[in-house]
Amino acid sequence: MTADENTHRAKDVVGLLEGLSTTRAIRRYVDEPIPEGVLRDIMFAATRAPSGSNRQPFRFLVLTDSAVAQQAKALIAVGAQKMWAQKRVTDGYDVGTGIQADSPKSRMANVMQEYVDNFSRVPVLVLACLVRYREPTPSEGASVYPACQNILLAARALGYGGVLTGFQAFAETELRELLNIPDDTALAGAITLGKPVGHHGPVRRVPMDELIYGDQWGTSPLWAIDPPGTAVMARRTQAENPTVTKK
Ligand SMILES: Cc1cc2nc3c(=O)[nH]c(=O)nc-3n(C[C@H](O)[C@H](O)[C@H](O)COP(=O)(O)O)c2cc1C
Repeated sequence: MTADENTHRAKDVVGLLEGLSTTRAIRRYVDEPIPEGVLRDIMFAATRAPSGSNRQPFRFLVLTDSAVAQQAKALIAVGAQKMWAQKRVTDGYDVGTGIQADSPKSRMANVMQEYVDNFSRVPVLVLACLVRYREPTPSEGASVYPACQNILLAARALGYGGVLTGFQAFAETELRELLNIPDDTALAGAITLGKPVGHHGPVRRVPMDELIYGDQWGTSPLWAIDPPGTAVMARRTQAENPTVTKK
């Protein structure tokens, strides 16, 4: 890193609210590294995240272009390819609208296929870990995933992008050995980062009145209305998404 990169933070070009409403899952990257100064600013954001009692049990392995990094990426690539090959079938990506070349479903399938096929070449792989100080609890992820989201938001702010995945689970034993990860430490996620091919964009979500309730479960307050111009996703049926409230 040059002295200049070390002393001047990379340019933050996106406002906080704009950033969090336009940070997409980015799975296609330009074939170039992330400069160390930028990586420092992204990972600094991770270290500022909240955690229970401010214990900061999160640790991040940042894998770029060393031989070890390449091995780790290759290990996860194999697992991700197997997982996607299965999900492609079980989730029906190649049936229904999936057979229309330009449908959202087939576009998603193409992006995922390209992502897993090229996984070993992602510019940066960040393994998010959680040092356990007690038996696993259902809420322990709350002390590592805010930091993961800070990484994605900071990347967005600086002209980069990424996605949180669970792909590390498919190579956990090998990763532990390769990277010397202690037994008391959980592998919480694998984040890939790079310069996006294409752009971030407005995130597409169901309207907020489907997700925000007032005094009663299932009933949203009158103020729970998406801001004008929000990209909407069609409301989902319970069959499409089992978490949807029965009305
Ligand atoms: C807990 C969690 C696990 C995820 N696992 C994966 C994964 O294994 N592979 C992947 O490609 N994306 C994964 N994602 C990314 C989601 O698919 C993505 O955030 C979601 O589809 C919204 O994408 P969008 O912001 O581009 O609309 C995961 C996200 C979360 C929060």
